[in-house]
Amino acid sequence: MASTGRIEIDGKTHDFAVTEGTEGERAIHIEDLRAQTQCITLDPGYKNTGSCESAITFIDGEKGILHHRGYSIEDLASNSSFLEVAYLLIHGELPTQSEYEMFRSGVTIHTMLHEDLKDFFSAFPKDAHPMAVCSAVVAALSTFYPEDLDPNDSEQVMNSAERLIAKFPTIAAYAHKHSIGHPCLYPDNSLSYVENFLTMMFGTPCDEYEVDPVVARAIEMLLILHADHEQNCSTSTVRLVGSSHANLFASISAGINALWGPRHGGANQQVVEMLESIAEEGLTARQFVDRAKDRDDTSRLMGFGHRVYRNYDPRARVIKSSADDVLAKLGVDDKLLEIAIDLERIALEEDYFAERRLYPNVDFYSGVIFKALGIPVQSFTVLFAMGRLPGWIAQWMELHEQEQAIGRPRQIYTGPTSRKYTPIETR
Ligand code: CMC
Repeated sequence: MASTGRIEIDGKTHDFAVTEGTEGERAIHIEDLRAQTQCITLDPGYKNTGSCESAITFIDGEKGILHHRGYSIEDLASNSSFLEVAYLLIHGELPTQSEYEMFRSGVTIHTMLHEDLKDFFSAFPKDAHPMAVCSAVVAALSTFYPEDLDPNDSEQVMNSAERLIAKFPTIAAYAHKHSIGHPCLYPDNSLSYVENFLTMMFGTPCDEYEVDPVVARAIEMLLILHADHEQNCSTSTVRLVGSSHANLFASISAGINALWGPRHGGANQQVVEMLESIAEEGLTARQFVDRAKDRDDTSRLMGFGHRVYRNYDPRARVIKSSADDVLAKLGVDDKLLEIAIDLERIALEEDYFAERRLYPNVDFYSGVIFKALGIPVQSFTVLFAMGRLPGWIAQWMELHEQEQAIGRPRQIYTGPTSRKYTPIETR
């Protein structure tokens, strides 16, 4: 039976339909709240605001559950490949062998960048953050493919989607190569998605580069773990920009910028920098945790806390359990991992973190692994973006299928009321 929510304002009641998702989450439809009551809802940070209905990803933050199209993240991380998860997110089902081959070759064919696009990289300062470079180059892709920018043409959208997934590793590797003054390598389409990325990142024209299968599998798993996360800050950004009918490249470029922030994807870089500064300053884990608890100190325990997960982040659990294995296989005895384990243990014993329900998130251990795998610290968030790309694309496509109205929140104005302009000489 359909439920109804009732709101009473100034003694007058108003009824609104209640909708229920397939996993039992409920929401009150308030589309005509303002028309009925002259009130809007006020929810800074959107802690209780559903911006859409979506069939892509389900999260239960209380139970630590993450599913894509019904499949658990643990199942996907141990059994699937990144391109297969990308297909699942975008098309809604796991592919058959022939569907997978078509998708893989559709992506692989686009790995090269237009030669003129390569000039963009040399225009950036050597110490430019690769997230800035990636977002600029992704936005610039739209200028190279003007024939594929119509958001309402599904064939054009799929061309742009395949180009983005194909070219992002090349862009990420070129951003790194430019920063160290090395020549960029062309993609090698005989390699897998991850092998190709690693070869462009670490190979040179002078020597044969052999991809370590342990490193390749670990990167593949990390990309899968980051592939989508429902309406987080960057995905909401991609949807909001997309809702204006801006093209896919412009929308994804905006998402990359949103992801860069230290409270979002930028946290993976910040975690390793935090661990390094603890090691350099000779602090104990307890001393740092005390700083993070201190309201007069701006330090936060980076990699801890999550808006939705209130018990644990299932992605952090998968990463932590593979961290030991990966580091052992690589023969890395990592001091930073020891500090991270200490920080986690101490923080979890503290009332401050328990009361606020702050637990390690995906970024807490991912940076440690990225570092052990040889990824430069500044590129950590770029790897997050590479992983999140299929999620952004799937969410953007869903928005267009749903023909959602332009995203345009309201506000409560708190500035001065109407006043008269005074000429400058009389102020
Ligand atoms: N260290 C210390 N205190 C914290 C932390 C932390 N990492 N996170 C939250 N708090 C405190 C915060 O000071 C506040 O305390 P009080 O109630 O006394 O004012 C309370 O916990 C609630 O914090 P909030 O900022 O209102 O919570 P939020 O849900 O808006 O923010 C968050 C979530 C992830 C932005 C935040 O926990 C944070 O800044 N964490 C560190 C950055 C980080 O690891 N980000 C990666 C998130 S997961 C991957 C991703 O999304 O990209």
